[in-house]
Formats: sequence, C-alpha cells, structure tokens
Amino acid sequence: MRVGIIGGGLMGREAASCFGRWFVLQNFPVRAELTAVCDLREDLLEWFGQVPTVQLRTKDHAELLASENVDVVYVAVPHHLHEKLYCDVLAAGKDLLAEKPFGIDLAAARRIRDAANTSGRFVRCSSEFPFAPGAQRAIDYVKSGALGRVLEIHSGFLHSSDLDPAKPANWKRHSKTCGEIGVMGDLGMHTVHIPFRLGWKPQRVFAQLQKGFAQRPDGQGGSAECDTWDNATLNCDVTIDGQTVPMRLQQKRLAPGQTNSWHFEAIGTEGGVRYNTRDANTIFIYEKEKGGWTRIDLGHTMAFPVITGGIFESGFPDLNLQMWAAYAAERAGKLAARFGCATPEEAVQSHELWQAALKSHAEKAVVEL
Ligand SMILES: NC(=O)c1ccc[n+]([C@@H]2O[C@H](COP(=O)([O-])OP(=O)(O)OC[C@H]3O[C@@H](n4cnc5c(N)ncnc54)[C@H](O)[C@@H]3O)[C@@H](O)[C@H]2O)c1
Repeated sequence: MRVGIIGGGLMGREAASCFGRWFVLQNFPVRAELTAVCDLREDLLEWFGQVPTVQLRTKDHAELLASENVDVVYVAVPHHLHEKLYCDVLAAGKDLLAEKPFGIDLAAARRIRDAANTSGRFVRCSSEFPFAPGAQRAIDYVKSGALGRVLEIHSGFLHSSDLDPAKPANWKRHSKTCGEIGVMGDLGMHTVHIPFRLGWKPQRVFAQLQKGFAQRPDGQGGSAECDTWDNATLNCDVTIDGQTVPMRLQQKRLAPGQTNSWHFEAIGTEGGVRYNTRDANTIFIYEKEKGGWTRIDLGHTMAFPVITGGIFESGFPDLNLQMWAAYAAERAGKLAARFGCATPEEAVQSHELWQAALKSHAEKAVVEL
C-alpha cells in the first residue's frame, strides 16, 4: 500500500510516523510505505525529507495525484478544503483515508459520500480511539450481552486547549474554515464511532452548545475573531431492544484539567463498562455478583498484534497505527471480524446529528432525526 499524504501538518506527520514503524505489526498481510507528500509549507516539505521512502514532495496536490507510486491518499487539511480535495483524490482513481469531519457540513459530506460510492474506491474516515485496548475490550463486552438491559451510555472527548485566551487562533477557531458545527466537527466523530457501530443511532437530540473566547491573538501581533462552538453536550435518545435509552455525547475544547481524554461508558442492569484514555491502561467493569466495579489493567493488547511487550502501555501513536492497520487490512479484504474504520455512511450520519444539534440549540428544543 503506497501512501501519499495531502496536508503534512499535525496529523499528516502522525500518519508518517505510522508508516515509519509499520514493521512492528506482526504477521500483517499488507506492507505500507509513504511515497509522496503535498503541503503548501516549505518547512513541512523539508521535514518529510527525512523519510527515506518519500520520492515526491510537492505543493501541488494534482502532481501527487498524478503519481503512479500512490495507491492510497490520506488527506489531513482544514475542513473547508475536504470536499474539493477528497473528490479530486477519487477522480484520480485513488483510495482515500479522509480526515473527519468528512466535509465542512452535511451537504458536503453527502456529496463526498456519493462521489465515493460512484467511484468504487475504498474510502474510510479517520477515528483512532476505538482502537485503544480499553475501547476494544469495551466493544467486546457490550457485544457479549453482559450489560443486560442497557440503562445509559456516555461517550465523550474532552480537552482544554482553548482555556488559554493567549493561545493564537488557527483555522479551527473560525466557522468559515472549521465549519458551523465547530467542536462537533473537530471531536465528534470520535464520540459517535463506537455507538454508531453498535447500532446506537440517536433518534432525537437536545443540544447545549457554548462558545469560547470571542477574540484571540492572530499570531501576527493583531487579534482575530473566533466564532466556533467550543463545547457541545448532546443529550440523545436511542432505542435498544425496544427500550428508549439516554445517550450523552460530549465534545469539549474547554474542559478544565483535560488534555485529550476520550471516554466511553455503558451501564446496564447486569453489568457496566467504563474506559477513559486518561487512564489508558485501566478499564472498569461492573460485576453484579460482586456488587461493584472491578479495575482491570489492560497492557498492550492490540487488535492487530505488534512486537511491543504485552505488559507495556499504549499511547496515541499506537492507536493511530492500529487504525491504519485496520484501514489496510479492510482494503485488502483481511479485516475479518475486527473493528473497522468509520465508513462514509457513518460520517454522513454524524453530520446529520451535528446539523440536528445546531437546530436544537438554536430553538432550545428537542430535534428528531
Ligand atoms: N484524527 C485525529 O485525532 C485528528 C486530530 C487533529 C486533527 N484532525 C483532522 O485532521 C485534519 C487536519 O488537521 P491538523 O490538525 O493536522 O491541521 P494542521 O493545520 O496542523 O495541518 C493542515 C495542513 O494542511 C496544509 N494544507 C492546507 N491547504 C493545503 C492544500 N491545498 N494542499 C496541501 N496542503 C494543504 C497546511 O499547510 C497544513 O500543514 C482536519 O480534518 C482535522 O479535523 C484529526
């Protein structure tokens, strides 16, 4: 799998690090290497000069897409550029790992999904947290039926990087480039990937949205207007086995004390499961017969085995590698029963929820999906 990256910023370089240590995957059916990179910034193109497999570094994405040495393109650019670049990738006959939120709004996401279907290319949307050992264990736990009747679900992604008013604004702080959905586009795919895959699709939503600081330094001595939603709490109803179950989804950039904490919790009449990447090595399972929560240390138990010792702990780059492994395996028809990357349809469904959340907040009303 020869990969080209368009957008070599924060996430583009994280992806490069996955291919740089692809060999840690054990008995993996696909070899992967990074062959081409496109970014507008000279300093980033220079950075990619360290990667020995990269044959092409360019500022023109058309040049990357014309390369015969690229099979799959990973696009990690600001949200207002998603639709154009994703559709260009598909028109060039390449497979795509798209970044979330998969278009700046619902209409864009639907057009991208339609272009993906028409093209017949293999397309998935980035979301790496379900590949954490604790998340995988939680998914298996829920699927086993151990919860009994499901009583409530919580899924969220919290950080606090917007609490510092002196932090310069970037494209993520402006609706024009981040999207009117703000933090939901930024963090939301991470919170809905597992619920959606488990069949827990919201039927109605009541959303509470909050903005951050209206002005920030622009990084060039002036100040910039910031208008995106920073915190979004979505109180949803889902139907599980004929019962209406409350599901709370939280996406926050103003969560004091949180750095990059992704959590998933499901509680039922017979059992419960609780996992937070903040305590990456620990999962809590509720056992009714014991009458309490049991803490279990996870170790480095990955869906796609790696050479890393089983007693070691995992971090963000490990999850990202696992997500890329899931993409490569599914593309090669070798995913089997394992958890796969988010699909274009799931990305569109997430946008349907964000759109409903905007309406709910504006009208201070519950919105049906
Ligand atoms: N999966 C995750 O955990 C995660 C985390 C952060 C961001 N993201 C997503 O990744 C995407 C990128 O975010 P980021 O934080 O890496 O942003 P970033 O600003 O760090 O990087 C974006 C890069 O795109 C480049 N770029 C802009 N226009 C371009 C063009 N026309 N051609 C080529 N390059 C171009 C910029 O120069 C920049 O280097 C977004 O969709 C964001 O939501 C995902």
